Amino acid sequence: MTSVPAADAARTDAVLPLVGSTIDVARERRLTLGAEVSHHFNAAGSALPTAAVVSAVVAHLRLEEQVGGYEAAAHVKDHVEAVYGSAAALLGCSADEIALFDSASTGLRVLLDAFRPAPGSRIIASRSTYVSHALHLMTLQRERGIDLVLAPVDAHRRVDLDALEALLADGRPTVLTIAHVPTSSGLVEPVDEIGVLARRYGAAYLLDATQSVGHLHIDVARIGCQVLVTTGRKFLRAPRGTALAFVQRDCTALLPPTAPDVRGAQWIDAFSWDVSGTARRFETWEAGIAGRLGLGVALEEANRRGIVETAGWLTATGDQVRESLRAIPGVTIADPHGSDSAIVTFLVDGVESARVSAALADRQVRVVSVPATHGQWDLGDRAIASIVRASPHVYNDEADISRLLEGVADIARKEARR
Ligand SMILES: Cc1ncc(COP(=O)(O)O)c(C=O)c1O
Repeated sequence: MTSVPAADAARTDAVLPLVGSTIDVARERRLTLGAEVSHHFNAAGSALPTAAVVSAVVAHLRLEEQVGGYEAAAHVKDHVEAVYGSAAALLGCSADEIALFDSASTGLRVLLDAFRPAPGSRIIASRSTYVSHALHLMTLQRERGIDLVLAPVDAHRRVDLDALEALLADGRPTVLTIAHVPTSSGLVEPVDEIGVLARRYGAAYLLDATQSVGHLHIDVARIGCQVLVTTGRKFLRAPRGTALAFVQRDCTALLPPTAPDVRGAQWIDAFSWDVSGTARRFETWEAGIAGRLGLGVALEEANRRGIVETAGWLTATGDQVRESLRAIPGVTIADPHGSDSAIVTFLVDGVESARVSAALADRQVRVVSVPATHGQWDLGDRAIASIVRASPHVYNDEADISRLLEGVADIARKEARR
């Protein structure tokens, strides 16, 4: 066990041992070019990919350059097929239950629409819902008369299970949409317990796992969701413009796509068509094949590293960063009590979050500022204009963490002197 050097004398006591036994951080850094370029703490935005992911993308673009897009796609057909199996292995489902998308927001929109929420039916959404999905939900409420209800939260801002049960018990047709981990804090929703309630009361259960796939151990059968959506570029470390979804097999049969595409449907007669029996019925023909190959490599790497080990390391490192930041004078942790993911959010007294992230960028420390406009049901509800978000991944070493802590302490100290 090693320890993180103190950021400054005032917080020496807060330095905790870096948990690193299950992940070979040095190896991860060798595989990740960007780990030497900056102290990157933005996995929740878009993580650093490995060189192997980038090479797969570039090699395919070079092949397209030489032989043409369709010909290149035919050449790598088996590799693209393998992406479905790798995603299924990570989530604990079958390859035919996987659909590929270009973003999580597209997947959430296409799959929520496939439930065809009818006027008067109800959608219960968690307060952790991401902006783009929330905007879609509010549009359905406005234009289609959907009853949009925000799930009540407990003292720690997680979905209040008793209150949720009381809502579901009236038996109304309901789609539950829950963000496993939000964009705006390190909170982890009680997704297994929500799944028990969804099953008990026959509600459809859609899980936005954009911030949790590649980060936490996910088993869709245990959670009991019908649909799970995630993006590639965050904790999965895949290229931008990639995303995937799980659609439970029995559920797929009940959900025709609202806008079938030639990828997942066959036009068999002047006015009739068949749709695929698999989750691919929700896909579109046109897609960035290079990105999908990169996604495949990232999924293989995540599976090889082991999600249980990765999740253990990430959450322990998140806790360590959170506790070390908490000990810095002038810093307030913004995560609700009990948050235990690798997303750490905080505020520096008297300094706007955007200024904190810009000042850290000057020190080659990459974090982001998340404004309330990305999560009004959470940040807005807590009257927080914006937070600073730091999200480590397996390539962050002790020196990275020290630089983050030193930078934040320095910014807080300078502000205290003003
Ligand atoms: C919780 C959550 N859901 C959904 C999204 C949207 O993902 P995408 O940008 O891939 O559409 C984000 C993006 O940050 C997110 O944090």
